[in-house]
Amino acid sequence: MSFEIPSPFQWDESFCVGHQVINDQHKKIFELINALDADRTNGAVLKELLDFVVMHFKTEEDGFEKVAWDQKDAHKEIHDNFVKTAVSLTSVDDGVMNFIKQWLVDHIKGSDMKYKGVL
Ligand SMILES: [Fe+2]
Ligand SMILES: [Fe+2]
Repeated sequence: MSFEIPSPFQWDESFCVGHQVINDQHKKIFELINALDADRTNGAVLKELLDFVVMHFKTEEDGFEKVAWDQKDAHKEIHDNFVKTAVSLTSVDDGVMNFIKQWLVDHIKGSDMKYKGVL
């Protein structure tokens, strides 16, 4: 599933998953991706983005446990696959930036949206 990457790259209501903490984390991920885009060779920015994304995934997964959501395992696998790919990145170019942006947009709209009203 592929959704349009917003330009400028920022959160809007079409990304709302009905959960304040998670919406705020998603907004922050947009900001960190923009920070990386503006400073692609800065390893500290890449690390900050990855650390925040890992923390964010845990927030969602802890929520799934609390409500015993039946799609939690499949959702966690998607998170794990992204982290595996992301931690192997050694440099950031246009292709990598596009991959990260497309992944975030597709994940929120195609996967996170499924827990709207559940979490
Ligand atoms: Fe998310
Ligand atoms: Fe997610």
